[in-house]
Amino acid sequence: MGDRQPILPGRGTSDYARYLRTDELLALQKSPSEMTSRDELLFQTVHQSAELWMKLACFELEEATGLVTRQDLPPALRLIRRAITCVLYITDQLHILEQMSPWEYHDVRKSLGHGSGFDSPGFNQIGESTPHLAVAFQRVLEARDLDLATLYRRGREFEDLYQLAELLVEWDERIILFRSHHLKVIERIIGGHVIGTQGTPVEVLAERVDHRFFPELWKVRDELTRIADEEKS
Ligand code: HEM
Repeated sequence: MGDRQPILPGRGTSDYARYLRTDELLALQKSPSEMTSRDELLFQTVHQSAELWMKLACFELEEATGLVTRQDLPPALRLIRRAITCVLYITDQLHILEQMSPWEYHDVRKSLGHGSGFDSPGFNQIGESTPHLAVAFQRVLEARDLDLATLYRRGREFEDLYQLAELLVEWDERIILFRSHHLKVIERIIGGHVIGTQGTPVEVLAERVDHRFFPELWKVRDELTRIADEEKS
């Protein structure tokens, strides 16, 4: 067996603990004596890990935006795919919250104060970062003198840009699916006609579900269908 003494700087009895900062990480949740409900560990685990995935998603998306701005599309595609996977994970892990009892959840809710997803740093950063990617994409279209209908009709000639456009639609779709699933979790746990911890009626959240960062990429589908109908008639 080799020498297992830690060689990295930092706290922790092993390099695993030092590199991953597990002492600090595992101290970020309430201890059993601080909990008002044992479901708090579940609630904090899902939210804290979601913040990490959204942090990573934004990190990748922002790097991708720089690459798209420099018209270096292939590595940007990889990073956007990774960011999409992060959103898939946070959507998937919402399911486990449905295993909380809607009655017992109120013990968790009482300890949240005014804490609300509206103040989620990760989700707010997604809202701030994505429009920059939309601008970068638009600039590439302009630089190549292309409109969206042409890009889609002649997709194979502009494969990298076509792939980028499809990933942007997928990003929109994944965020919509996150919001939509989140809304169902809310309805299942606290109901669809109540007021959130920051005073927002759940119905208002329902109106935000279908927000799109890339509306033009959705509209072009209508245009393509109209063109196809005309050309075939
Ligand atoms: C028991 C589970 C959950 C409940 C009951 C719940 C409830 C709510 C409510 C009522 C709101 C509206 C704002 C307000 O508080 O007044 C909200 C917003 C939000 N929540 Fe949750 N939430 C839950 C889990 C999660 C999780 C796991 C995430 C992970 C990221 C999350 C992220 C958000 C975000 C990002 C918003 C703002 C949405 C937007 O801007 O459209 N929530 N949540």
